[in-house]
Amino acid sequence: MSSTALDPYRDRYAARTLGMTASEIRALFAVASRPEVVSLAGGMPNLSALPLDAVGAVIGDLVIRRGETALQYGSGQGDPVLREHICEIMALEGIQASPDDVVVTVGSQQALDLVARVFLDPGDIVLAESPSYVGALGTLSAAEADVRHVAMDDAGLIPEALREALDRLATEGRSAKFLYTVPNYHNPAGVSMTLERRREVVALAAEYDLLILEDNPYGLLGFDREPMDALRAMDADRVLYLGSFSKTFAPGLRVGWVLAPQAIREKLILASEAQILCPSNFSQMVVSAYLETQPWRDQIKIYREVYRERRDAMLDALSQQMPAGTTWTHPDGGFYTWLTLPGGLDAKAMLPRAVEARVAYVAGTAFFADGSGERHMRLSYCFPTPERIREGVRRLAGVVKEELELQAMFPGNAGRASRHPRPDSGQTAPDPGTVPRGRIGQAPPPDLA
Ligand SMILES: Cc1ncc(COP(=O)(O)O)c(C=O)c1O
Repeated sequence: MSSTALDPYRDRYAARTLGMTASEIRALFAVASRPEVVSLAGGMPNLSALPLDAVGAVIGDLVIRRGETALQYGSGQGDPVLREHICEIMALEGIQASPDDVVVTVGSQQALDLVARVFLDPGDIVLAESPSYVGALGTLSAAEADVRHVAMDDAGLIPEALREALDRLATEGRSAKFLYTVPNYHNPAGVSMTLERRREVVALAAEYDLLILEDNPYGLLGFDREPMDALRAMDADRVLYLGSFSKTFAPGLRVGWVLAPQAIREKLILASEAQILCPSNFSQMVVSAYLETQPWRDQIKIYREVYRERRDAMLDALSQQMPAGTTWTHPDGGFYTWLTLPGGLDAKAMLPRAVEARVAYVAGTAFFADGSGERHMRLSYCFPTPERIREGVRRLAGVVKEELELQAMFPGNAGRASRHPRPDSGQTAPDPGTVPRGRIGQAPPPDLA
């Protein structure tokens, strides 16, 4: 069947539209949301921990007392009262900022899109961790950016790897528009950048005249430590900072923000007005009223405990169930762990079998602009109960063990067990791909696995 038969409007789309495909996470949602499947795929905050009665009362009161304002259009930059609160919240991570420099957005996802619109022409280079947040990759791909991944390890982005990437670009006569980084409880890697590395990365940015886009939705969700200083706290002129109420309060309100130097902030406001006129006054006033009347700091502590318990269940189950050769990161906050399969297994090819076994995850390939990362998967522990997490890991470990057995049956084919036909499937196995090299986002050489 021709591609126009699949989509009769295909020939009319802009070139960039042709590059838009459903993210692997979205494609998974339909299957993963079946009740019999334990989904370790989605990154949904656990709203069962939110006191809905209290939130309902805040919303009801707001509409009754200030409904004419709350339900009206607002300003393109966002409500000044909320921007004040946002500055108080950012101060928890060492950021000194003026409400004038904050632009409220529809989640931090819109902020990502605005930054892309303001800075990127097709073909522009963006540096991003390896692996990187799938939603940012989607936005960058819609902006037709050329994403170059930079290695990270358990201590976050590796400064020497960043320097190498910047030097390589310089020898090509190119430069990057910015570095995109998630320094805290990384999505999907589950690791945080150490304070020392933050300083090194900021120093490198100054040395190479590089802008940094710091995306920080999870910073207040650490299990064992106080929030670390943000990169933005170390350089106010070079770092654009994205924040969000999605993980610390509720994603359904869609309230996030971007903090940027004054000149950039003006462009971001213009871009946002062109896109949405203004962010929702209602959502912003709900957030302000919640912050003013509810014990939001205690609520964040409750969220942390909920996620800590689930993290413990996942790490414990992984160490009990997974076969030798499987490794994973040990998050001390946030929602995710990043798992590396034993040599030769392919998480993407294995996914249909996992879903058959009633467990879902996101294959690592979703988190690389070039579609590599097949040995990896992201496991989320934020949403299911600890019991379901244990059961999900048990099912997943069963699938991995089966794949290893298949691999042993087909030893000649570079170990790509997941791509082998099952004895009964009648499929032919495609050629083995290349196994990427490297640190967290890339597989170690097979002999080290
Ligand atoms: C790293 C990162 N950035 C941005 C977002 C988007 O969040 P928001 O709900 O604020 O748009 C997410 C959501 O999962 C995320 O993990």
